[in-house]
Amino acid sequence: MRKSPIVDRFGRVATDLRVSVTDRCNFRCTYCMPAEGLQWLPRAEILTYEEIARLAGVFHALGVRTVRLTGGEPTVRRDLPELVRKLRNVAQDLDLSMTTNGLLLDVLAAPLKEAGLDRVNVSVDSLLRHRFAEMTRRDALEGVMRGLRAAEAAGLSPIKLNCVVLNGTNDDEVADFAAFARDTGYDVRFIEYMPLDADHGWERAKVLPSRKVLARIAERFPLIPVEHEGDPSPATTCRFADGAPGTVGVIASVTEPFCDSCDRMRLTADGQFRSCLFALNETNLRDPLRAGASAEELEALIRAAMWEKWSGHRINHPDFVQPQRTMSSIGG
Ligand code: GTP
Ligand code: 5AD
Ligand code: SF4
Repeated sequence: MRKSPIVDRFGRVATDLRVSVTDRCNFRCTYCMPAEGLQWLPRAEILTYEEIARLAGVFHALGVRTVRLTGGEPTVRRDLPELVRKLRNVAQDLDLSMTTNGLLLDVLAAPLKEAGLDRVNVSVDSLLRHRFAEMTRRDALEGVMRGLRAAEAAGLSPIKLNCVVLNGTNDDEVADFAAFARDTGYDVRFIEYMPLDADHGWERAKVLPSRKVLARIAERFPLIPVEHEGDPSPATTCRFADGAPGTVGVIASVTEPFCDSCDRMRLTADGQFRSCLFALNETNLRDPLRAGASAEELEALIRAAMWEKWSGHRINHPDFVQPQRTMSSIGG
C-alpha cells in the first residue's frame, strides 16, 4: 500500500532529505568554523552507513525523492562511495547529490559517480588564490579547481557552484564569478550569509541582498530570468542574454525567504532529525533505530516532528534565536 506523504500543518510536502555524514571538515571557513575547529562528535554517536541507508529507506517509502549528502565536509568520511552505493540501492530513481568544498573530488569524483552519485554542488567563495586562502584558512583554490575538473570528467552533472557573498569581503567578485560561469558552463549561485556560524559573527551589514548581486552582474552581462516550474530549488536562476553557457542564481535566504515552499528535512551525522535549518528542537532517530524500532515507529516520529515544523525561519524577527547547532553540523 502506498503511504501518504509527509506533510506539515502549513500544507507543505517534504520530499527532500539532506543527510550530514560528518561534522568534520578539512577547511575552516571564517563564516562557519573557528580556526581551531570545533568539538567533533564521538564516533559511537555517528550513524553507520547501514543505519543511514535504513533511515533513507524509511524516508523514501514516505515520498522522499531527493537525497543530498552534506557535512561538515562529506568527502572526509571514509569510504563515502560505499554509502552512495547503499543509497543507490534504496532506489534507482533517487536524485542523489552532494554539497562539498570540492578539494577531495580530485580522487573521489570518479568512484562516487560509479557508485551512483548524480551531481555535486561545490562551494567556492573566491576566485582569487589569496582571498580564497583567507576565507577558508586553506590555500586550496588550485586543488578545488582540480576537483571541479574531475567532477566534470566523471560526468557528475550539472555542476553547481555555491558562493556565500560577504559584503566587504568578496562582493567585488560577483561579476567575475558570472564570467567563470560563462567560461565553464557551471551554474553559479550566490548565497546570502545566514546567522549559523559558530563564532556568532553574523551581522546584517555583511549580507549583500541578492537583488543587488543580480544587478551588479547585469551591468556587465545582461540576464534573462529562467522560469523553474516544478523545480523546488531555493535558487532564482538567470541565463545570459547573449546565449553564453552557464547560469547565475541567487539564494536569498535572508532578504527573500523561500520557506513557504520548503520541501526539506535534515538528518544530522548523529542521527537527529531537524525539520528546519533553524529549528531549535531535534528528534532523536538514532536511539530508537538502535533499539530496534520498526519502520512504522520511525515513520511516526518523523511525521510528528514535521507536524511541529514552523512556517519559516525568524532571522528577520526581533525574537530570532540562533540554533545551538552550527551550519557545519547541520550541513547547510
Ligand atoms: P539544488 O538546488 O537541488 O542543487 O540544492 P540546494 O541549492 O538546495 O543545495 P545546497 O546544499 O547547494 O544549498 C545551497 C545553499 O542554500 C545552502 O548553502 C544554504 O545556504 C541554502 N539553503 C539550503 N537549504 C536551505 C533551507 O532549507 N533553508 C534556507 N534558508 N537556506 C537553505
Ligand atoms: N550562511 C550561508 N551559507 C553558508 N554556508 C556555510 N555557512 C553558511 C552561512 N552562515 C554554505 C557553504 C556551502 C553550503 C553547505 O552552505 O558555503 O555552500
Ligand atoms: Fe525550510 Fe526552514 Fe530553510 Fe525556511 S529556513 S526554507 S522553513 S528549512
